[in-house]
Amino acid sequence: MSTNAISVEAGPLSAGQRIAMHYFVAAMILFFAQILFGVIAGLQYIYPDLFFGQLDFSVARMVHINAMIVWLLFGFMGAVYWLVEDEAGTDLVGVGLAKINFWILTAAVTVVVLVYLFVQIGPGTKTTLWLINEGREYIEAPRWADIGIVFCVLVFFYNVSATFMKGRWSGISGVLVLDLVALAGLYVAGMYFTPNISVDQHWWWWVIHLWVEATWEVLVGCIMAWGLIKTLGANRRIVTTWLYIEVAMMFGSGILGLGHHYFWIGTPEYWFTIGGFFSALEPVPLVAMVVHAVYDAGRHGFKSNNHPALAWLIAHAFGNFFGAGVWGFMHTLPQINLYTHGTQWTSSHGHLAFFGAYATINIAIIYLAIQRVRGNVWMSAELADRGWKWKWSLGLLNAGVLGMTMALLIAGYDQSFIERALEGSTWSGYFKAQQSAWFLQGMVWRMIFGWVTTAGIVLLFWDLLTIGKTEKRKIKDISVVSTLEHAPA
Ligand code: HEM
Ligand code: HEM
Ligand SMILES: [Fe+2]
Repeated sequence: MSTNAISVEAGPLSAGQRIAMHYFVAAMILFFAQILFGVIAGLQYIYPDLFFGQLDFSVARMVHINAMIVWLLFGFMGAVYWLVEDEAGTDLVGVGLAKINFWILTAAVTVVVLVYLFVQIGPGTKTTLWLINEGREYIEAPRWADIGIVFCVLVFFYNVSATFMKGRWSGISGVLVLDLVALAGLYVAGMYFTPNISVDQHWWWWVIHLWVEATWEVLVGCIMAWGLIKTLGANRRIVTTWLYIEVAMMFGSGILGLGHHYFWIGTPEYWFTIGGFFSALEPVPLVAMVVHAVYDAGRHGFKSNNHPALAWLIAHAFGNFFGAGVWGFMHTLPQINLYTHGTQWTSSHGHLAFFGAYATINIAIIYLAIQRVRGNVWMSAELADRGWKWKWSLGLLNAGVLGMTMALLIAGYDQSFIERALEGSTWSGYFKAQQSAWFLQGMVWRMIFGWVTTAGIVLLFWDLLTIGKTEKRKIKDISVVSTLEHAPA
């Protein structure tokens, strides 16, 4: 088993860490693209003529959400490359392979996005399916890129598992490797084409729901466990035990929770009961994750080597709980979903969940990596610039997304009420809701908080480029103290 020791010495970055940095840089560039296209799509709600015929809403929205999926995946792969050597206690097995893999993946993503932007409209045929766009929300990449992505993920999987095999296994790495199998396997379900829209949606949800509510959650559970050891020197036995419990509960509720997407797509009625019941249980593991993080942070008196990373890990624990757990629970019973389905309510949940559960933890790991890049310098209290940049970007990003979430929730309430409850889901009811004052104001407020979010991301980039640069003090070895603290009596 690996130890909790945090190496205070900082030589050059290891091969795995250098590859991880490539992934982190690409992730941040794509994060910026996500926000750029989000701002455009948000403005188009207020000024419907904006870029009409040049960059339509459908395309801006598509790039916004696909860029999000890809940057989060890049971030996760970076995080795994970052921790794999430390966790395995040995060097990465295929360094050259990992490098080539990174560039192939990045080139493919660039080509796919350029094609989205250059070929925006036209009939959907077998050829467009292969070359332009697969037409599946969130994973729109054409078939050629799909195959390439699967290949790249397999190479990544080989590299990670072979490194653990060469070095040593731990509870965290065992869960991680099994989870990567599920993560890669599920993607294939999204490549199955059928002209029957019910069947198509049935399989598409296997990727979308089972990714974010099962395999991604488990992946961040592993990253969180490792992150708590690194930021706080948390006890490995305790975090591993939590990890097992969370994973069991996550799969227990998340797999059948899939049913909350089968209410209205033409699947049999028993999904109302199954989906309603199991998805209502989904918040339980998320509560466990908050308790776990806060327990560990409290146990160590919040003494950490890296305040920004710890703050973002805590933001993750709460963001995951509120965005996924609370906002998801609100509309997961079929009786409620009948009214809220596909309204801005859904978008409200989508924003808080993706940001709260996944953007946050990626940012946390990047702060951990930056600390190492700067030579394991002090990144806690009394930073050179008093840490105003990281604190303000943390505040602006979280306030921005929370503000957007509330604005969208109000717009969604209005839609559910007018379009569904009063007008009985008619075509004219749809337009009545879209033109009501609360909806229109909600879109304006979303934009105001969208700008707050944008300011937060600009500050985040500035901070990542500068934090710790002039710092001379080294980190303190907090692990020795805390390991003793945890020693069994
Ligand atoms: C981090 C985890 C989660 C993420 C990232 C997430 C994200 C999303 C997104 C983006 C959508 C919209 C999908 C679409 O385009 O149609 C959605 C839908 C939905 N989510 Fe989640 N979600 C998460 C967890 C949960 C949980 C735990 C629950 C239940 C307790 C839940 C309940 C729902 C429901 C019921 C819908 C369907 C909304 C509708 O009918 O329009 N989600 N989720
Ligand atoms: C400047 C900030 C942002 C703006 C203005 C913005 C705007 C938008 C707009 C206009 C849509 C389309 C909604 C619709 O179809 O009605 C959208 C969708 C979405 N955005 Fe954002 N966004 C921003 C930031 C983010 C962030 C930070 C995340 C998560 C990390 C995110 C995740 C999503 C998701 C998951 C959807 C799909 C929601 C659904 O299908 O219901 N966005 N966004
Ligand atoms: Fe779901």
